[in-house]
Amino acid sequence: MSTQTRQKRRTTTAIRAMKGGDRIVCLTAYTTPIARLLDPHCDLLLVGDSLGMVLYGMDTTVGVTLEMMIAHGQAVMRGVSHACVIVDLPFGSYQESREQAFRSAARILQETGCDGVKLEGGEEMAETVAFLTARGVPVFGHVGLMPQLVNTAGGFRSLGHSPEEADKIRRDARAIADASAFALVIEGTVEPLAREITAELAVPTIGIGASAACDGQVLVSDDMLGLFNEFKPRFVKRYAELSPLITEAVADYADEVRSGAFPSAEHTFQIKR
Ligand code: KIV
Repeated sequence: MSTQTRQKRRTTTAIRAMKGGDRIVCLTAYTTPIARLLDPHCDLLLVGDSLGMVLYGMDTTVGVTLEMMIAHGQAVMRGVSHACVIVDLPFGSYQESREQAFRSAARILQETGCDGVKLEGGEEMAETVAFLTARGVPVFGHVGLMPQLVNTAGGFRSLGHSPEEADKIRRDARAIADASAFALVIEGTVEPLAREITAELAVPTIGIGASAACDGQVLVSDDMLGLFNEFKPRFVKRYAELSPLITEAVADYADEVRSGAFPSAEHTFQIKR
């Protein structure tokens, strides 16, 4: 990565400083061509472990590996010149100990050149977040609904409805912000609680299914572009329906190959005389 490219891209410090100012625009990206398209419009690009589901057809994010995250982090870094890029620490790469978390985060930073890592967890991960940030690893927190906990959470639903649940998310958010995360994803959480946490914390909150009260928003790009059709969470707005366009293009190609209409003279090499 050239120094010039690095200087032009937003840093985690710049994202942190957006608290209370312009709303922060974040989308997920997993490949170079998509990163190139999203980069001019986004403050933050997240190489999310959602790639396990939307690119690899997994049922959950639990099977995603550090190697997959590094490969996709490298691909995204080849396509950006403006946005700050964060790569998810996948399940099993950071929960065991703060040392394991540091080793995984260091590999991600060194092998991709990205700006920081994201990890899921609240109070139980605060010590790890403090350990990482004190050692030069910018951390993006993730509280509320945490997809990596699917096997213990017993399915997904919006959170924060009961006072006990709300109190837990509030404590989680405080703990991760106090541990020096530069920003925090709040996922699948009721509006009044997301609003309260956003007002209380000194760092930006980025909502996904957590209302417009957050300092910024993130969506899975394949969801908002209509490329992932297995299911659509209620909080997803489709800004495009790309699947039917692809189906139509591929059907046209198949018809033309079968009829012999493709390739035509325009797409055929002849000997130059
Ligand atoms: O993995 C992911 O894409 C995420 C976002 C949806 C926040 O964690």
